Amino acid sequence: MNKTYLIQTVQSVKEMADALSVRRLVFIEEQEVPADLEIDEHDEANSGTTHFVAYDRETPVGASRLRPYAPGVGKVERVAVNKTERGTGLGRLIMLALEEAAREQNYETLKLNAQTHAQRFYEKLGYEPHGDVFDEAGIEHIAMVKALR
Ligand code: COA
Repeated sequence: MNKTYLIQTVQSVKEMADALSVRRLVFIEEQEVPADLEIDEHDEANSGTTHFVAYDRETPVGASRLRPYAPGVGKVERVAVNKTERGTGLGRLIMLALEEAAREQNYETLKLNAQTHAQRFYEKLGYEPHGDVFDEAGIEHIAMVKALR
């Protein structure tokens, strides 16, 4: 039977810590992104960023964040699913929750820099690649954009 995940916007200090614990596991430990790049000014309180956390019962298993980028444009960042839960549809559910929040915040367009291995994941959600592949934190990325309707 499929698992039921709870995906929510971060509302408390504990939920923020839970989101960061997933990002730490996935980006800092697994992908070896330097900690001072992984956590940045957009994680500070009052930065305007909306954070998301996904739970399997009490255990945090996924995260992402949405931040203001330009007028009408939001940027999707730090999309992460614990290794144990990948391929279950959780990443897609996190993106759909984020897009719903983005519509409520009146964003017209979402932008992201996809790690190239995840390009297909985002394409299946309607994101289109733009421009050339570039390096960020030692990982190949490509810019992708989706118009929200
Ligand atoms: N390559 C090709 N297709 C992929 C894919 C990949 N790397 N990852 C997911 N997909 C496809 C799935 O097959 C599925 O397709 P379907 O709807 O036709 O069945 C669809 O995308 C949704 O997949 P889902 O199970 O929701 O993805 P996930 O829960 O495994 O999450 C990531 C995807 C990328 C978030 C997850 O692999 C992850 O956290 N990776 C490490 C962190 C990372 O690289 N984040 C992206 C930063 S840009």
